[in-house]
Amino acid sequence: MSPFDAFRYDGKRVIVVGGASGIGAAAARLAQDAGAEVVVMDLADVTLPGVKAIRMNLAERASIDAAVDECGGVVDALFSCAGVADGTPGIERINFVGHRHLIERMVSREMLRRGSAICLVSSLGGVGWESSLRPLSKLLDISDFDAAARWFVQRGQANYTMTKLAIGAYVAREAFPLLKRGIRINAISPGATDTPLARANKDIWLGFGTDYREAVGIKPFTPTEQAYPLVFLCSDAAAAITGTIVNSDAGWLSSAITRSFPSATFFAKVLLGRSAWARLLRNVGMRLSNRTGRLSARAWNRRTTTVASRS
Ligand code: NAI
Repeated sequence: MSPFDAFRYDGKRVIVVGGASGIGAAAARLAQDAGAEVVVMDLADVTLPGVKAIRMNLAERASIDAAVDECGGVVDALFSCAGVADGTPGIERINFVGHRHLIERMVSREMLRRGSAICLVSSLGGVGWESSLRPLSKLLDISDFDAAARWFVQRGQANYTMTKLAIGAYVAREAFPLLKRGIRINAISPGATDTPLARANKDIWLGFGTDYREAVGIKPFTPTEQAYPLVFLCSDAAAAITGTIVNSDAGWLSSAITRSFPSATFFAKVLLGRSAWARLLRNVGMRLSNRTGRLSARAWNRRTTTVASRS
């Protein structure tokens, strides 16, 4: 045994939720390469050889329950990667409520053994969850799947940003109770990463932070570059880290906060929401993203229906 073995996954069993594509698929490959036995749960077909694939829809509680039952056994690491963009029906369940339900079902069945770890995938949209802690705590107090989903919908907040804010508060709040069971929980917050999801929302997702990337001479991340911190955080090498969101954004947020990259500072202030005006602006932004997401989803549906009716 060498101390570096703590980074490896030999003899470990890993579940990757959303491992059919993008960051999740890269994490599944990396974990396999590090020695793990990998189970992928996804709505889409899984093409990675050598993994057990379980079809699951995070938007449906029964589907999650069936997937957890099918998986069975004990698990050393859970990568909760699946996510969708604004405009996707059920976004509140797919991006947050479903992930939480899956984690809690696995915990209650003692599938996550002592020494295991969970890593979710947040986003820059989830930055500044602390300033919304009061409403988010109310959400986290709701343990029922449907009632938690209703919390988002009834407030007109079934949007990407609110689901990622919820991940931030959840990870922080669960650090203590989970660690009492020997389980760690963290999340990464990626900057623009070249995946099918980002390409489908190219202008916003891959356009974001272009000026910063040009200034430092980098490109959008590859999915594997996001999988590295994810796999590290669930390895024994990260034994001291729990309840944390790791910004895997090449320093965009830090540079914005400290004004070393001043053109991003205003936006970072809005994200962090530490003043009343910043929270107000953020709220307006979320409502706009609800609306544009719905509009682009409608436009997308219209286009695919027209194309289908032509063919
Ligand atoms: P992706 O689309 O390549 O992968 C997402 C995966 O989630 C797919 O395999 C998809 O089939 C699965 N999925 C979607 N709906 C599902 C459902 N209802 N049930 C089960 N699985 C479902 O996208 P990407 O970019 O790899 O996204 C992964 C995570 O990274 C998401 O949570 C996203 O919000 C987050 N993220 C991505 C960024 C980017 O620039 N690509 C930036 C910040 C965060």
